[in-house]
Amino acid sequence: MAEARLGVLISGRGSNLAALLLASRLMADCPYEIVPVAAHDPQAPGLAMAAAEGIATFGQSHQGLGRAAFDAIIEAELHRHGVTHVALAGYMRLLSPGFVARWAGRCFNIHPSLLPAHKGLHVHEAVLAAGETMSGCTVHLVTAELDGGPILGQARVAVLPGDTPESLAARILIAEHQLYPRVIANQFRSVSEPLPRLRALALALPEAAEKLSHGAPGFFVQGGKFFAYFSENHHGNGITALLVKASGVEEQAMLIEQDPELYFRPAYFGPAGWIGIRLDAATDWEMIGRWLERSWQASAPRRLLRLVTGQ
Ligand code: GRF
Repeated sequence: MAEARLGVLISGRGSNLAALLLASRLMADCPYEIVPVAAHDPQAPGLAMAAAEGIATFGQSHQGLGRAAFDAIIEAELHRHGVTHVALAGYMRLLSPGFVARWAGRCFNIHPSLLPAHKGLHVHEAVLAAGETMSGCTVHLVTAELDGGPILGQARVAVLPGDTPESLAARILIAEHQLYPRVIANQFRSVSEPLPRLRALALALPEAAEKLSHGAPGFFVQGGKFFAYFSENHHGNGITALLVKASGVEEQAMLIEQDPELYFRPAYFGPAGWIGIRLDAATDWEMIGRWLERSWQASAPRRLLRLVTGQ
């Protein structure tokens, strides 16, 4: 059985959905399997295509429903099919904050520009108006910021003289169809590597976000501070590790003394009481999850802590 059960949300023709589905059948040992396809328009042509391919489909009009109520219906359908991950493929509705939070680190989107350039709608018009010579498409994780989540993969497509928004869109679509299945499959192929797993845990914490900090993926609480960094072969030290906040240098020293194979004093961060936890041996992910939560709590603004703990 595939590692990931992918639910796909569409709005219209569903050519990216077709690409994901057909690629999954062509790929040897494809790590994802498309389970249901849902649309907010029961007439969406992509639904008929998926049904003809033997995939469960669900068309639910959003009319008359609030955003959260509509998303709850879609989510119930995803759970009914045991969906583990969600792919948005031309899904033209904004998701409710609750949905985004519950699927954090497990919801992908494809956008027809080289993000962070040209977020939102009318992308190709904007690219041509800016006189750009290169465009393309981006697969990213979905976060609360529209088209703003961590980038997982990009494909570049040259702009031709005389391109119209339509001709450019059509060429970029060809790249989208190749990029999306590949990037999603790679997320699971690399499950034995720690970053995707760490990312899924870190981004599942309330209002957590990711950005590069001195070239390393760092996780921070929006409106607050960094609570974790992923460190790989830092200055050639050969170590893959998570850096989180201990309570101070005393705890740091105690941890290292207790288990020097697992814990170490990270360069630069060490004096501030951060602790390095190695991810290159057999990793206990439950322990990593607890450390992330603890470090998140030490970094979150009080407003958010109150919300989470209810105190
Ligand atoms: C694609 O260009 C996608 O990047 C954008 O909407 C379009 C959807 O096309 N978000 P399709 O429904 O997958 O054919």
